[in-house]
Amino acid sequence: MDKSQKTLLSGIQPSGRPHIGNYFGAMKQFVEMQSSHDCYFMIVDYHALNTIQDAKVMRQNILDLAIDYLAIGLDPKKSVIFKQSDVAAHTELAWIFETLTTMPYLSRAHAYKDSEAKNKEISVGVFNYPMLMAADILLYNTDVVPVGADQKQHVEITRDTAEKFNRIYGDIFKLPEAHILANVAVIPGIDGRKMSKSYGNTIPLFSTDEEIEKAVMGIVTDSSGGVPKNVYEIHKLFRSESDLMKLYEEKAGKYKDLKEALIVDVKKFIGPMRDRRDELTKDSDAVLKILRDGGDRARKVADKKMDEVREKVGVKLY
Ligand code: ADP
Ligand code: TRP
Repeated sequence: MDKSQKTLLSGIQPSGRPHIGNYFGAMKQFVEMQSSHDCYFMIVDYHALNTIQDAKVMRQNILDLAIDYLAIGLDPKKSVIFKQSDVAAHTELAWIFETLTTMPYLSRAHAYKDSEAKNKEISVGVFNYPMLMAADILLYNTDVVPVGADQKQHVEITRDTAEKFNRIYGDIFKLPEAHILANVAVIPGIDGRKMSKSYGNTIPLFSTDEEIEKAVMGIVTDSSGGVPKNVYEIHKLFRSESDLMKLYEEKAGKYKDLKEALIVDVKKFIGPMRDRRDELTKDSDAVLKILRDGGDRARKVADKKMDEVREKVGVKLY
């Protein structure tokens, strides 16, 4: 690791196929920032246990996300690619943070409030979710956390938690910054709401051509102006706005033509990435080895930090 470079860390839950919202909102930045930062990219499997309680599905999702990471261009030679459950210090540090954090403070977290508003039965794991995320980030002296806008509050909670620990026990945690790309902060789904796995309104990142056609044709269009907003918002991820301006002027009101143009652009973009993914799928042993090696590298850094934490809180006697 190059000491002059800033440290970057991010994670994604292995909770199903990633979509273009995940890619343009978060994953693309991962790839771009690899050459200028010391990077850690995680598969946050312990976070995902809140929603996936089927071992077979979990195992498959972890392997799939590892392959997705490699297919988009994350490179194990440049970055540490690992899964959270391989580094026990994450859950250990989360516990310590939980002893410092109050219930009213965590009750203000959006994710918890959303679940509560939906009258969902909320597990302690969902309630404490931000504490585990704070541990993920702070164990590695992280400077930058590239995420979509919906994760901004979690990074703020991480900063608050670091400050609180530093105030009580002495300065050991660096305060991280969220890195959110403004123009892709919230990518709409085919129904116009935020694109999300949980809304079933996605264009999957590694879609087949048929899936792309079906998803794009299903984009909800408003019938007011000549420019179908949802189509345009997605289209601008794949083409420059000056290009699009011409096209959308020429085809004003012709929604079907515009959708067809979008299909061509999405296919052109996804095709090569999907081919790379298919190649990687053929050698899952190699992918598992990358994860195992990444876990070994991450553990070295995290365990050292955890040891300092134990010292600070007074439980380290030898
Ligand atoms: P989902 O809502 O589909 O379950 P996740 O919560 O797993 O997505 O998010 C993984 C990453 O992708 C996060 O950094 C998140 O901020 C980003 N992300 C998810 N959906 C979008 C979106 N519609 N627009 C921009 N970024 C997104
Ligand atoms: N909460 C993030 C999400 O749902 C995932 C996550 C867990 C994460 N730990 C992290 C992201 C640490 C960045 C850094 O998308």
